[in-house]
Amino acid sequence: MAESSARSLSPEGRVIMISGASRGIGLAIAKRLQDDGYLLSLGVRKPSELKGLDPERTLIAKFDATKPEDAEPWLDATIERFGRLDGLINNAGILRAIDLRSGDESVLDEMWAVNVKGPFRLIRLALPHLEKAGHGRIINVASTDGKRYRDGVSVAYAMTKHAVMALTHAAKFAGWEHGVRVTALCPGAVDTQLVASVPGVTPSANRIPPETIGDTVSFLLSLPNTASVAELVMNTRLESWI
Ligand SMILES: NC(=O)c1ccc[n+]([C@@H]2O[C@H](COP(=O)([O-])OP(=O)(O)OC[C@H]3O[C@@H](n4cnc5c(N)ncnc54)[C@H](OP(=O)(O)O)[C@@H]3O)[C@@H](O)[C@H]2O)c1
Repeated sequence: MAESSARSLSPEGRVIMISGASRGIGLAIAKRLQDDGYLLSLGVRKPSELKGLDPERTLIAKFDATKPEDAEPWLDATIERFGRLDGLINNAGILRAIDLRSGDESVLDEMWAVNVKGPFRLIRLALPHLEKAGHGRIINVASTDGKRYRDGVSVAYAMTKHAVMALTHAAKFAGWEHGVRVTALCPGAVDTQLVASVPGVTPSANRIPPETIGDTVSFLLSLPNTASVAELVMNTRLESWI
């Protein structure tokens, strides 16, 4: 790995896992980190369909967050290919409509599996490797819906994203002594398919471009151990406190 200064960490030689990199925010993060010079391990549901990234510097593995058996082989393949792990971006996520008057509980279970249990499982597996690196990073893509409840938002989506905030702070304590730093990245509406058909969503022109999230992740990964960002909230709307 390249020498890192006290001011910033170099991308060179650092290996970053990203879940849900097939499209939307995950793909934008992957492209930005590839441009920066990171080595990437991408977890996607259909590996054969992901094109356009440099195969010399990228591992593409199968990862479905609803399948517990997918997590360990992805982590193992990453270590086998690159010999180390420096960062984990828990990005895969889903938004399904459900509130306290309508919607089937199975929707809540599905969101819990993808948005919370997936990241929990990957963090557990990745932590020993991130600790070994001495400057491991975990970025959980949460949401402004993890910071407050806004009327009309899927109750279960908000519940899972609040759970991601707790998971983030727990991971921060777990890895701190070994240089692991953990961030909950909390954007408002980002211009992807996830929100395209959500009633009352911010109009497309006012949404955050996914590339801006890529830039933000790049910035977070560059910060030294002495600059821990536990939460980064990026709103599209005018609201109190966030
Ligand atoms: N868009 C927003 O406004 C917004 C705002 C705040 C936070 N976020 C969060 O940002 C993250 C990415 O969202 P996005 O906007 O990029 O959404 P998106 O365009 O719908 O992409 C979702 C990604 O998650 C993957 N995914 C879905 N179910 C999965 C599963 N069971 N296992 C593994 N991967 C799965 C998808 O893979 P497939 O291609 O295989 O379906 C896709 O790569 C999510 O955690 C979301 O909650 C989004």
